[in-house]
Amino acid sequence: MHNDIKKICVSEEKIQEMVQRLGKEITEKYADREPLFVGLLNGCHPFMSDLLKNVDLYCTIAYMKVSSYNGTESTGKLSVDYDLSVDVYQKDVILVDDILDTGRTLSEVSRQLKEKGANSVRLCVLLDKPDRRTLPIHADFVGGKVPNEFVVGYGLDYNEKYRNLPYIGVLKEEIYSK
Ligand code: IMP
Ligand code: MG
Repeated sequence: MHNDIKKICVSEEKIQEMVQRLGKEITEKYADREPLFVGLLNGCHPFMSDLLKNVDLYCTIAYMKVSSYNGTESTGKLSVDYDLSVDVYQKDVILVDDILDTGRTLSEVSRQLKEKGANSVRLCVLLDKPDRRTLPIHADFVGGKVPNEFVVGYGLDYNEKYRNLPYIGVLKEEIYSK
């Protein structure tokens, strides 16, 4: 699997630095509150579990699964494959995803959570790809920016594979033509 990687963009060490900083930022921002972390599966894993270890707050967690991607391209349509199992009414939600790309996924999910009565919805992503944005949305907590390149690892997939890489990398061109 490691042999399929052309270059490493974010090392394991750098990821842990990002996660620790994000945990600290969230802990300070929500000092007097008990946020509900909503992770978007499958990309939020393992980011969300590492992040939570660095959050020193009483909090609850829940997951949702939505899909809009097929291979490396967004299909533009969002479907909810697995919905929340908890009530978000009056909750301070922190929506956690691997990457903010066009912004379609997080704007739509965040709109749905507000519609269900969440008190606040903030976005936390490991990576931000601002060059690809098509909607006016920004994340409140961002690990780091990446250029307009398709990346895999640490939750990010190509056709559901490579999520278990411990770093973020770019695949060799030949992998796409397989
Ligand atoms: P958006 O709706 O376009 O912002 O896309 C967000 C979703 O697309 C993320 O949750 C990822 O699952 C996926 N995605 C976007 N960019 C990449 C990438 O570079 N590698 C892998 N998945 C990506
Ligand atoms: Mg994904």
